[in-house]
Amino acid sequence: MSDRIRILIVDDIPETREHLTKLLGFEADMEVVGTAESGPEAIELARKLSPDVVLMDINMPGMDGIATSEELSTTVPSAAVIMMSVQGEADYLRRSMLAGAREFLVKPFSADELTTSIRKVHERALEKQSRAAERGETPARAAAHSPAQRGPEGVIVTIFSPKGGVGRSTIAVNLAVAAAREGRRVALVDGSLQFGDVGVLLNLDSRHRSIADLVPEIAAGEPESLETVLVRHDSGVDVLLAPPTPETAELITPAYMRAVLQRLRIDHDLVVVDTPPVLTDMTLAMLDVADRIVALLTLEITNIRNLRVFLEVAHDLGYDDSRLTLVLNRADSSLGIRVSDVERSIGRKVDHSIVSDGRSVVYALNRGVPFVISNPEAQVSQDLFRLARDLSSTLSHADEAEPAQRSAARRSIFAWR
Ligand SMILES: Nc1ncnc2c1ncn2[C@@H]1O[C@H](COP(=O)(O)OP(=O)(O)OP(=O)(O)O)[C@@H](O)[C@H]1O
Ligand SMILES: [Mg+2]
Repeated sequence: MSDRIRILIVDDIPETREHLTKLLGFEADMEVVGTAESGPEAIELARKLSPDVVLMDINMPGMDGIATSEELSTTVPSAAVIMMSVQGEADYLRRSMLAGAREFLVKPFSADELTTSIRKVHERALEKQSRAAERGETPARAAAHSPAQRGPEGVIVTIFSPKGGVGRSTIAVNLAVAAAREGRRVALVDGSLQFGDVGVLLNLDSRHRSIADLVPEIAAGEPESLETVLVRHDSGVDVLLAPPTPETAELITPAYMRAVLQRLRIDHDLVVVDTPPVLTDMTLAMLDVADRIVALLTLEITNIRNLRVFLEVAHDLGYDDSRLTLVLNRADSSLGIRVSDVERSIGRKVDHSIVSDGRSVVYALNRGVPFVISNPEAQVSQDLFRLARDLSSTLSHADEAEPAQRSAARRSIFAWR
């Protein structure tokens, strides 16, 4: 491999191609290996030349930069695309990223911005290659669920309830932060992909990177750029946010989500996953890979009934009872239902209770600061710290179901209907 960065310039305006070629000619570590004036020509040249980086104009007659990048992401995936546009709107940026572009430059840009972007995407591509080479991994192997190879990897805890609004996001966020405060390396995944609340609860706005930025990699199956889209919260938790728009959620596949979670457990002691209150294939993927499923309920009759149905389904899916932790949220706010009634109805003991504390919880919510940080002494925070400690200490990989068993169960996921 040449040690210069090999660049292909794609733009329908001849002056732009010339200008960029001249500009890059001053850079000792870069080499313009070709120029193309249209999408089809770019694809042909990229196939022939295998450039490291493609500078792509977004607006071209006929096949535009987005369509060309999409095509390149499958035909010449090693070429990193930098999209150039006169418009810097979020929609352009999003569509470019979805098409596989790694960077986005708004014209006019300075020579410095251009060369910095080129070096950045090239460096990232090299890192990606060397990581893959070190692991000797193929995408299929990386995605495979293989506890035998996992060694001292972290545990995945998925928070689920069949009813909305029972506190899944609140518990997921505070559990993750509580564990981080106890010195654990923690990742938090907003698996409520369409209407995720984790960003709001942690005061991380939608300008941050999210799982949507990984969409270009989905076809390849391996979350290579995962580290680059994690957002480090002040608490130390690495957050994988949900896409900024609900329609993007559809582009994420359950298989890819599994691969993401498996990858996260390599570098983290604990991976906490928030979910939506529906049993889709996506949710099942998040439950399937979980070492521990926290089934959450509150003292409401509809809630209890649905949780009972879920536990039956969990049993049919082959989820071992030892993987389930039953957590009662707002345990002290019953209106006529006692914990013992719940336990009788469900046929199972409640493992943990969390008190109701509207003041701390809503105050924290509105400030975007988890209550385990803003009010660590409150009973509700203490309950979360206890849950974090118990989940960490009682988890061992020894009680895991065989992967084959799990996937067999998964194949028949809706068989109970
Ligand atoms: N222990 C608690 N004490 C008081 N209020 C709570 C408690 N837990 C959750 N809440 C409140 O309940 C509401 C729902 O919580 P949250 O959004 O975490 O639930 P969810 O299950 O994630 O909901 P969704 O179905 O919308 O994803 C929020 O207003 C939250 O502040
Ligand atoms: Mg939620």
